[in-house]
Parts: sequence; structure tokens; C-alpha cells
Amino acid sequence: MQIEHWFPIKILYHDVDNNIKTQTKAVVNNEFKEQCLNFISKENLTTSFYNQKNILDDNKFFVLREEIINVANSFAKELGFSGYKKLVIKESWLNSFNKGNYEILHNHYSNFISGVYYVNSNEKCSNFYFEDHIETRKMWSDYYQCYRMDNVQATVYPPIEGRMLLFPSWLIHGVQPNEEEIERISLAFNLDVEN
Ligand SMILES: [Fe+2]
Repeated sequence: MQIEHWFPIKILYHDVDNNIKTQTKAVVNNEFKEQCLNFISKENLTTSFYNQKNILDDNKFFVLREEIINVANSFAKELGFSGYKKLVIKESWLNSFNKGNYEILHNHYSNFISGVYYVNSNEKCSNFYFEDHIETRKMWSDYYQCYRMDNVQATVYPPIEGRMLLFPSWLIHGVQPNEEEIERISLAFNLDVEN
């Protein structure tokens, strides 16, 4: 008997070293938070997406930017992509979630690899979550006696400070409501290939 495992989804997480973590947090809190974040009521979060489309272009983020590119190259290789000249960060922006803020399910469809890096958070802050993109698979949900990686309909990642997540841009995801008093700040980004 042979059982084959088709259509897997790969999600990467990576913890940066303490220097990158501390430096990035200081740059965001001291220089960017006040000047580029705006509350967007229809999305229920505060973001720089609409006024600073590529915050990682700033050289103060040089080490984080290089780290993201390196990790994304490894991820792309793992996904089976090759032959491209280089990966570039097309867009990057800050998101801030105060108590009660959340982000509804969405994807970053016209991109390649997307990601998020946690600048300021603790594990009790709201989780990032992914949903199974194969909608019809939900019809099996009543049959499972236990849940495993290959049959869950959704999975969550706690926002651990200094951690980045990388995922295929087409994968739907969101952020659960933040119940904590602390401001949960993340830096999101989209990567594409340059040939
Ligand atoms: Fe997103």
C-alpha cells in the first residue's frame, strides 16, 4: 500500500538573534511609530500600509532586511523555486493592534512570498491564524476524532517577539482580536522575484 501526500502547504518560522530584535524594536518605537501609523476603522487596525509602502527600504532596517531576504531565499528553495535572479521586498509596512483590534481573513494574492515579523508583542497577544484554502475539505470536519497537522481547518501562531513567519502569498490569514493591554506591533512584507 502506498499513500501519497499531495498539495501540502509550507509555512516557515524563524527567530532572529537578539541584536536584530533589539535594534529593530528601537528603530520602530523611536523613529517610525509616531510618524507613519494611522488607524483604519474599516480594517480595525493601525497601519502604515497606506502612507509608507516600503518601510524596509530605510537603511535603519538593513540587518532585518538582509535577514528576511536570506530566510526567504531558503524558503523559496524549499518550495522548489529556482532560476530567479533575486528576491526583492516589494512592499513592507507596520501594523499595530491595541486592545480589541484584529484583522479579518485576507490574502496577498498578486505576490510570491509574504511574511510578518513581530516587533513588539508577547505570547498572550492575539494570534496570527491561517485557514485551509481548500474550502470543500471542510465537509469532512465532522468525521475527525482528533486533529493533526494534515486535517485541521485552521492553525494559529502566537506573535513571539523577534520571530518571523513566511508563507505563500495566496494563503488566507488574519489576526485574532488582541485581548492584551500592550500594543502588538508587527512588520508585514511581500516579496517577489526579479529575473
Ligand atoms: Fe496579511
